[in-house]
Amino acid sequence: MTPGIRPLVAGNWKMNGLKASLAQLTAMASQFDAALARNVDLLVCPPATLVQAAAAAAVGSAIAVGGQDCHANASGAHTGDVSAEMLADAGARFVIVGHSERRADHGETDAVVKAKAEAARRAGLVAVVCVGETRAEREAGKTLAVVRGQLEGSIPAGMTAADLVVAYEPVWAIGTGLTPTAADVAEVHAAIRSDLERILGKTESGKLRILYGGSVKPSNAAELMAIENVDGALVGGASLKAEDFMGIAAAYRG
Ligand code: PGA
Repeated sequence: MTPGIRPLVAGNWKMNGLKASLAQLTAMASQFDAALARNVDLLVCPPATLVQAAAAAAVGSAIAVGGQDCHANASGAHTGDVSAEMLADAGARFVIVGHSERRADHGETDAVVKAKAEAARRAGLVAVVCVGETRAEREAGKTLAVVRGQLEGSIPAGMTAADLVVAYEPVWAIGTGLTPTAADVAEVHAAIRSDLERILGKTESGKLRILYGGSVKPSNAAELMAIENVDGALVGGASLKAEDFMGIAAAYRG
């Protein structure tokens, strides 16, 4: 946590979820009581097919809905792609860009991610820019350099704490049940904060939310969320069930 920064717990449903899954979102909304909402923001990013219905299901609750990716252009001949404007029109307020699965599966470079983050800003969405090292990069002692390079390459100039969230997700921790030690998380998050200071200036970097992602679950959330400069979580598998997701958010109960 960082004094003065309101944390965010974000769920990334990835390629999971049919209409019936919206019952989980409704359950999350009903468990997101005023006491918890005083301390934390919640975001759920379902697959694109469910963004509109999820936004409708979340109306009246404090849960925001986001997309998992967007095209850099607002419209055009890009079969199968979804633009940031379309996500906003469907009720999204956030969009994840540069998730390691997109970087790996779709060959997304930092430049591509940067263009997508710019598109998010253009459409009035908050971009959740993901960075993180592979196991080989960590073992080679390159973690901080890799993350710095991704931040420098993926974050457009002039972004602010109002339109940007950064998520640190070690690739080797995603979906594996493995997490870095608290000391390792603290080291990377502190480095990200100072990298952001160079990229965006001290004022914005001091306000920016830096999420940790990778095998966050109810049993480790309190420990991870207590680490300095960890301002919330980006949660994959454990965001699919209301009980698990709200168990993670509960780390922020007073
Ligand atoms: P996980 O995924 O929580 O299932 O490890 C995190 C993510 O990819 O955002």
